[in-house]
Amino acid sequence: MRISLSNASAALLLLASFGTLAAAERYCFDDTRFTEADWAFCQQIQPDLFMYYTPFPEEGNVMLGLHATRDTFGWTALALAGNGGMKGASQVVVRQENGEWIAEDRHSRDYVTPSLDASQDVKLLFANQTSCGETSWGVLIPMNSCDDDDYPIEDISVFMHWAFGDGHTFGFHGSRRGQFHANLMRAPKDVPSTDGLPYLDILMPDVPVVVGEGGSDPTNPYICSFFDISQLPKSNTNEELGPGSKVHVTRFSPVLDEDSKQFVHHMIFIIPECESMPSGCSIMKWPWAVGSEDIIFPEDVGLPFGGEQTMLVLQMHYYNPNLVEDIRDSSGVRVYFTTELRPEEAGVIALNGGTGPWQRPSVPAGQSDYALDPMVIPSSCTNYNWREPITVLGVIHHMHLAGLNMDINVERDGRSLGPLRHEKFYDFNHQSLEESPLGKLDPGDQLVMNCHYDTTGVTEDISFGDLTQQEMCYAIMMVYPVQDVDDYSYTPVAFNTEQCFTAGTGAFANVSACTENYMESVPTFFDFRNNVEDDFGAFDMCNSDWYESLLLPYLPASCPDCYKNSNCTAEEVAIHAQTVVCPNQCNMMGASVYPNVSQTEAYASGVWGCSENGPASPEFGWVQYTRAIEMQEANCTARGDLSQVVELADVPVGADESAADCGAVSGSTKLMLGGALVGTFVAVFTML
Ligand SMILES: *[C@@H]1O[C@H](CO)[C@@H](O)[C@H](O)[C@H]1NC(C)=O
Ligand SMILES: *[C@@H]1O[C@H](CO)[C@@H](O)[C@H](O)[C@H]1NC(C)=O
Ligand SMILES: *[C@@H]1O[C@H](CO)[C@@H](O)[C@H](O)[C@H]1NC(C)=O
Ligand SMILES: *[C@@H]1O[C@H](CO)[C@@H](O)[C@H](O)[C@H]1NC(C)=O
Ligand SMILES: *[C@@H]1O[C@H](CO)[C@@H](O)[C@H](O)[C@H]1NC(C)=O
Repeated sequence: MRISLSNASAALLLLASFGTLAAAERYCFDDTRFTEADWAFCQQIQPDLFMYYTPFPEEGNVMLGLHATRDTFGWTALALAGNGGMKGASQVVVRQENGEWIAEDRHSRDYVTPSLDASQDVKLLFANQTSCGETSWGVLIPMNSCDDDDYPIEDISVFMHWAFGDGHTFGFHGSRRGQFHANLMRAPKDVPSTDGLPYLDILMPDVPVVVGEGGSDPTNPYICSFFDISQLPKSNTNEELGPGSKVHVTRFSPVLDEDSKQFVHHMIFIIPECESMPSGCSIMKWPWAVGSEDIIFPEDVGLPFGGEQTMLVLQMHYYNPNLVEDIRDSSGVRVYFTTELRPEEAGVIALNGGTGPWQRPSVPAGQSDYALDPMVIPSSCTNYNWREPITVLGVIHHMHLAGLNMDINVERDGRSLGPLRHEKFYDFNHQSLEESPLGKLDPGDQLVMNCHYDTTGVTEDISFGDLTQQEMCYAIMMVYPVQDVDDYSYTPVAFNTEQCFTAGTGAFANVSACTENYMESVPTFFDFRNNVEDDFGAFDMCNSDWYESLLLPYLPASCPDCYKNSNCTAEEVAIHAQTVVCPNQCNMMGASVYPNVSQTEAYASGVWGCSENGPASPEFGWVQYTRAIEMQEANCTARGDLSQVVELADVPVGADESAADCGAVSGSTKLMLGGALVGTFVAVFTML
């Protein structure tokens, strides 16, 4: 079929139908190089861009192909990535060098030109680019090269990127790039229909996209809109979602304002507050980033919504690099729900490795890779407070601007299972809920969360806190079935453990410094000095009339029984300190009590929300003190053999260049719809 310039109205009609392209596969396979005989799967990425792939599980390879149907006159690339940004992505770049086609394995650690990997784990199978701007290529890549600069190919949906260059010298792609999700082991997901489902739209109220007071970067405005759940509009089925009426959310879909969608960077559906992780924010339900898909819960799983919840916040992060003026936005989220509650409830589990200065000291300035002490959620903890194996629907990593990378390693029966999510380099501007290669976690699994920061660009130490300029080490898992515990928090050991295994002085030389300190000042010993006006020692406390009424519930077993008659001797109290109080306190922190000096390496931290034996002290949460352990690295098992010979059908790989008009494409439905036409239409438009 030939489209002539005079056929502009037909062009318009077809252009209008782009939004409703039917099943992508229909347009994927035609009589170009890409046939169903060669390629197991095809995914349409843009109207004029198609990705093909075939997994070869036996050889451990994936064959990856690209077909850009127009406007490509230089290098083209596909990349696997840990998020929607370029930081940490691993690219396959196909280009010409000295007239020869080459495929390159590259990686980027930042927003800079990707570097060549030391290990080139890619083999070019074929490549072609016509003078009409049509590009086709196929490469073979290993499923797991074990190269630190590559991502393993796993059976989950992951972020991928595409980019086109202007020439064959590899360099900046300008605006010709994008992101999408794909699972290279399976056919593209069929998104189930939403026809007939009740939904509620929670949208920004036509806000001007400008940075607000207190905002730091005018190109990255954050705008929050608060919703009182009782004031939410009725759903399309006239349902009211007031407090008390609990429903199950079954799906979240982004709703993008046509006029402003190119500025919408990410949306986070949170409770309640703005720029970074809000203080007092207890539940983060739906983080979405450009390129994220709908979040669709399995058929027997729903996310509770409403009930006791009263407020809700929609946080939007806009990206307006050129400071375009007068943009207003009404994007948001369409929440599909059911009033017939599903058998399983989903929930979130927060891993709070540091959100405030009470948890972590400041990150020193000028460090290229500063690592926090890991937060260890020990096996005994998950064994106690997960009732059953849990399915991880997704994982969000959250740090602020200095965040370099973070990982949550999972260890089962002494073996590392690897990270809960692969994100080689953290990107503040690309936060989203991503699938986990681990899928399910078991009670008894140990989780170790590591956060690293790059502070080379700052001159002052960075404290932990809510502001974007401060730092955090925080992650969220969305799981089902929901568990009783929804929050684990890193808790530094405030207790000076050295006093356990060192001797006291003077009359206390035969006992521990711990005993001496306890006799001297109880508030200092238990680290609550700031909360009391008067200092007091253990002898005074045990003979007081207020110990029993005020302190006993918080400090049980702190005095010998003589406190009941207020007639304890100093010696009785000291013996109790040495034989009961100090062993309790020190053993919990992993230290022995002098004169026993067998255990002097105490635990560095505890985890609030963890307990081995149940919630012993509900007033203070459950704390389990844990030693920061060195986890055995999972040994990488390489997969792939690039010497694999792939026989491909011998069909033309590009448009017929002999035709003077590039729109005259060799009988390809795909090209007609996705490619040449747009070019033609644009041409008409500019000519008018
Ligand atoms: C420590 O020595 C004192 C005497 O100097 C004695 O009264 C006390 O019982 C001893 N304490 C312990 C725990 O051995
Ligand atoms: C403390 O008082 C109780 C009850 O009056 C008494 O039985 C006990 O012997 C007294 N202890 C001392 C050390 O005086
Ligand atoms: C010394 O302390 C360690 C650690 O608390 C404990 O396991 C051990 O039983 C103690 N040894 C003696 C002789 O009390
Ligand atoms: C990895 O390999 C090393 C050396 O062969 C071995 O000592 C270690 O136990 C292995 N680690 C795991 C988690 O299997
Ligand atoms: C690309 O393919 C077309 C059609 O098969 C062919 O005419 C052309 O020579 C090829 N170009 C290159 C650079 O291989």
